[in-house]
Amino acid sequence: MDKTVVLITGCSSGIGLRLAVHLASDPSKTFKVYATMRNLAKKRRLMDCVKDVHPDTMDILQMDVTDQLSVLNAKEKIEEKRVDILVCNAGVGLMGPLEAQSYETMTRIFDVNLFGTIRSIQAFLPGMKARRSGRILVTGSLGGLQGLPFNEVYCASKFAVEGVCESLAILLQQFNVQIAHLTTVFLCGAGEKDVSELPLSAITLIYYYNDAAQDTADIVKVFLDVIRADSPALRYYTSTALMPLSTLKLALQDGSQYVRTMSKIIFSANQTEDA
Ligand SMILES: NC(=O)c1ccc[n+]([C@@H]2O[C@H](COP(=O)([O-])OP(=O)(O)OC[C@H]3O[C@@H](n4cnc5c(N)ncnc54)[C@H](OP(=O)(O)O)[C@@H]3O)[C@@H](O)[C@H]2O)c1
Repeated sequence: MDKTVVLITGCSSGIGLRLAVHLASDPSKTFKVYATMRNLAKKRRLMDCVKDVHPDTMDILQMDVTDQLSVLNAKEKIEEKRVDILVCNAGVGLMGPLEAQSYETMTRIFDVNLFGTIRSIQAFLPGMKARRSGRILVTGSLGGLQGLPFNEVYCASKFAVEGVCESLAILLQQFNVQIAHLTTVFLCGAGEKDVSELPLSAITLIYYYNDAAQDTADIVKVFLDVIRADSPALRYYTSTALMPLSTLKLALQDGSQYVRTMSKIIFSANQTEDA
């Protein structure tokens, strides 16, 4: 039987790496995983995780989602000449006051998070449509559901990704292609990043979300559910820990309740700090 061909972006670490390892190590050997990363010098970690026991279930390819040529080169190297499941996972974060962000930094975030996702979909969707079969999973973020202070540009990029997914979901029903947007909250360890340059409120936010931090393994379980589902939905939440905050947005549609509550959470502990 033909293997299910899965291409994952951003496999040098985190969710992408764990998902690639899990699928490539599946005892059924039903998956052929193309684990892609922008910098192949980082492939050691992934290789150490799969050891060399699964040479027929995984290939590692270079693919920088900001580089059209790199995306097309990766596509060329797929032996089966098709991708059944595309996982758009590559992403970069950005924290800090909006006024301090340069145009170059902001465009880099959009180039990876939004246009990188679009480039990947553009490369593999035509084949899926032609075959009338395929599935696209997109790693979303809580920052794509609700605005977060000091996270404006990142949130904007992830809100935009959510818009792409919802719009495509309607169209793709006609082609038997499903798109699923998986919201992740905050990974364990994400709060260990260097915060020395950030205002105190931003650090409060990081530690607030750290309390709701998720294990990568728990997130990967949800990805696996979506991969195995007969007919996946558009939206999945890999954690419900912070959902009450998102639902506040809908409770009072003028936004005032969400803004007040979030402001209280982030700023009440630091009344004397930087405004
Ligand atoms: N970490 C969190 O708390 C969190 C929360 C919500 C959503 N997410 C989302 O989850 C996804 C996976 O992130 P993660 O948490 O697993 O973090 P991660 O470990 O930093 O993984 C991000 C991956 O994206 C790759 N990447 C960055 N720019 C790329 C590019 N131009 N082309 C191809 N790959 C690129 C990184 O490669 P390099 O190693 O080369 O940089 C890395 O492999 C992202 O979309 C992120 O926005 C993360």
